[in-house]
Amino acid sequence: MSGQSASGARRSGADAASSAEAPVVEARGVGKVFPGVTANAGVDLAVRRGEVHALLGENGAGKSTLASILCGLYQPDEGTVLVDGRPVTLRNPRDGLARGIGMVHQHFRLVERFTVAENIVLGDRRQPLVLSAGRVRSAMVELGERYGLSIDPDARVGDLAVGEQQRVEITKMLYRGVDVLLLDEPTAVLTPQEADALFTTLRAMAADGKAVVLISHKLGEVLAVADRVTVLRDGRVVGAVAADATDRHQLATMMVGREVDLSPRRAQSPPGVAVLDVRGVSLRPPGRPARLAGVSLQVHAGEVVGVAGVAGNGQRELAEVVAGLRAPTEGTVVVAGRGTTGRGARAARGAGLAYVPEDRLGTGLAPSLSIADNLLLTRPLGFFVDRRTATADARCVIERFDVKATGPAAAVRGLSGGNVQKVLLGRELSDSCTVLVVASPTRGLDVGAIEFVRDLLDERRRGGVGVLLLSEDLDEIRALADRILVLFEGRIVLERAGGDADLTELGLAMAGAGA
Ligand SMILES: Nc1ncnc2c1ncn2[C@@H]1O[C@H](COP(=O)(O)OP(=O)(O)O)[C@@H](O)[C@H]1O
Ligand SMILES: [Mg+2]
Repeated sequence: MSGQSASGARRSGADAASSAEAPVVEARGVGKVFPGVTANAGVDLAVRRGEVHALLGENGAGKSTLASILCGLYQPDEGTVLVDGRPVTLRNPRDGLARGIGMVHQHFRLVERFTVAENIVLGDRRQPLVLSAGRVRSAMVELGERYGLSIDPDARVGDLAVGEQQRVEITKMLYRGVDVLLLDEPTAVLTPQEADALFTTLRAMAADGKAVVLISHKLGEVLAVADRVTVLRDGRVVGAVAADATDRHQLATMMVGREVDLSPRRAQSPPGVAVLDVRGVSLRPPGRPARLAGVSLQVHAGEVVGVAGVAGNGQRELAEVVAGLRAPTEGTVVVAGRGTTGRGARAARGAGLAYVPEDRLGTGLAPSLSIADNLLLTRPLGFFVDRRTATADARCVIERFDVKATGPAAAVRGLSGGNVQKVLLGRELSDSCTVLVVASPTRGLDVGAIEFVRDLLDERRRGGVGVLLLSEDLDEIRALADRILVLFEGRIVLERAGGDADLTELGLAMAGAGA
């Protein structure tokens, strides 16, 4: 849902209004080299007032580096940064702020033990040392109303949820009077609802004449919220396009550098027998609200059933009950004809169920071992017999997922988080099973890897596996599911065929409308 429901937010029409106007901030021929890596090369970027300008690219494309140069955190090795048409030298973020440019980084730079108001004035040289609480407060109220950024000025930052902390960072930049706000992958830490609220804020800022640079690798949100999109790949600009003159396919292809097929995949043949039968499953912890309340569903051989829902509405519990990790208080689970209710994960696995939880780092990875050996860990066959296959499999996973590693012998410990996730998914999704339960399999992955995971799941479906796909991300669900169920407060509140599910209807059901 992230990004999609924000498409209702009005574009400011900034393109028409300000395309004649000079860019407020511009990069010309910007290059930046880190030891062994060219992070930016010959980058041109022009950001105008009144627009949300997306900087789109896969992990490692050079987005954060470019934004850090524009805000003064890094200095370019080559090229020029211009503000209002004039070349500038930004020696540090303070210089950037003095020119009206501020950045919200992926890792927030707030002082947890200070209050929101204190954080907002912290480091602001325009402020007298003893801060005028009243002034900060009234400024916060005004900014909150104007851009939809409400936060309690007296709350301790350490007590705030991550989405609220992000609002503090944004408010802080607005309080400093920035005209250009750079946000580095701001939705990575947000729920879909929070992301939509953020997009409304960004549109309001653009409508107010500010320039917003939104860094992202998510096509849906870029298309929903941006006016223009500059795509980076391997440190270079691949192209800059108007959001309403492009589409997912074009952007994905630009990002990845080859044809990428993200079109929905559905079952080609009618589904077979029920391989997963969940009946009247409830989970009612004593003295607390029910986590699941009478959930019934079936998954057939060769079918993908998507369960959409906002986190906290019972998806995790449903997956865990089905996978045998939790015993339901009522109801039954049958896997491939065998009753597995409350008999543990081993019984469910024995009946032919594979489970890929969302928390993939907790799923039995040995950091000190190589990628190949990690692929081998869960294989039932003998270690020595299978080593060569594992090396070949590892090569395949590395290549198809574009894992940044030196080869099958590279230790998992040395890989970045996203690359570890790719290795694990590659392992889990290639095991044989009758029923596959998988939670948010493409979350956080690059477009090329998303395509690969979708291919893998589609392949399993065509091989007759019944797939239960749980996700918060409607794009992910709609790309694969033959049937879509919406879970809200532990109940299935909507069922639709995958092909004709209406995004708005699904989104509303996820939010509990009509429940
Ligand atoms: N401070 C740094 N030191 C060394 N290498 C870096 C540093 N920052 C980024 N890089 C490298 O530069 C390249 C671009 O990184 P980055 O700008 O963070 O990409 P993105 O934000 O698009 O994921 C990557 O290969 C990354 O490993
Ligand atoms: Mg980055």
